[in-house]
Amino acid sequence: MPDRPPPLTRIPPEVVAVADYEPLAAARVEPSAWAYLTGGAADEITLRENRAAFDRLKLNGRVLEDFSHGGGTEVTLFGHTHEFPILLAPVAYQKLAHPDGELATVLGAAAAKAGMIVSTHASVSLEEIARAAQSPLWFQLYPKPDRGLTRELVQRAESAGYQALVVTVDAPVSGMRNREHRAAFRLPEGIEAVNLPGSSPMGGRGVEPGSLCGGLLATAPTWRDLEWLQSLTKMPVLAKGIMSVDDAERAAERGLAGIVVSNHGGRTLDTQPATIDALPRIADRVGGRLPLIVDGGIRRGTDILKALALGARAVLIGRPLIYGLAAAGPVGVAHVVNILRAELEVAMALTGRARLSEIDRSVLWRD
Ligand code: FNR
Ligand code: LAC
Repeated sequence: MPDRPPPLTRIPPEVVAVADYEPLAAARVEPSAWAYLTGGAADEITLRENRAAFDRLKLNGRVLEDFSHGGGTEVTLFGHTHEFPILLAPVAYQKLAHPDGELATVLGAAAAKAGMIVSTHASVSLEEIARAAQSPLWFQLYPKPDRGLTRELVQRAESAGYQALVVTVDAPVSGMRNREHRAAFRLPEGIEAVNLPGSSPMGGRGVEPGSLCGGLLATAPTWRDLEWLQSLTKMPVLAKGIMSVDDAERAAERGLAGIVVSNHGGRTLDTQPATIDALPRIADRVGGRLPLIVDGGIRRGTDILKALALGARAVLIGRPLIYGLAAAGPVGVAHVVNILRAELEVAMALTGRARLSEIDRSVLWRD
């Protein structure tokens, strides 16, 4: 087995952008795990489109604005103030990227004061992560066919002090993640979804023909399960993985606390559009009724500014967190957040916006 370098303990001075972290991370992760961590579904059209759509949007630079009244990037979400609108997305099995997994991530989140969303498929116990947390902490839920197990997970998260429940609704089955299948990814010994006792190990080539409509989907969650979850907990309940305006409308009608506009980082249904293209339509329909969060392809502070301009209250970062974590553990996670945060502030200054409430669609260039 080739020797891989350990996580860095010091960040080299030439590492100044999220993209600089990617090769440092790739060199430190086993190749099939890298295919799992960074790949998308099928031909990865949506994965690429998430980025390409941000690059197509152009900004409208503004000059000589008066900033003497001061400014800032604080945002309040469900009663908690976040110093900046960037949270760590739920990402499963973080021990694939770093030996301490989610425990390293939560230390990085604390150092950067970033909110973190812990996956149902975390490789560290949700209570252990909560004990180390010093910044807002939310729990991501994959509702399980066994309601008892689902209820127990929600209650554990609530007792451990998690402040919001993010129910992921776009992955009743995994997408056809061919990059991962070609690399024959299997969870290695010692890495598992420890919060789900007795869960079957993931891996393999995806779905067998005939198995889905024949049975598997019969137990997939529905809108009724979301209502049941809302009745179970005092935590605000968000739905993550909404791309259609009609689904956003249903979420608003059912009194959900928020929506994460997401295509799962291009990992579920390939050839969906970019999230940044779905966001403004959803914002037009339901933006006045509940907060919208967006993820997918955010790699620059300018991407965050564009997301806020098109109706997001905050953004999540998935793969950038993995890059920082694999390259340099907590230090890397914190640095990735700090880079994006500084880039957002520069982008705000150069578009003449002192605070988030001043960001609207006029930030974008229109021909
Ligand atoms: C994810 N994502 C995810 N989402 C979720 O709700 N629960 C999960 O357990 C996971 N696991 C997961 C693993 C890996 C390796 C990746 C890359 C992603 C999706 C994640 O929360 C987020 O929606 C995307 O990662 C956002 O896109 P970017 O920032 O990676 O482009
Ligand atoms: C993934 C699942 C765990 O994207 O959400 O890998």
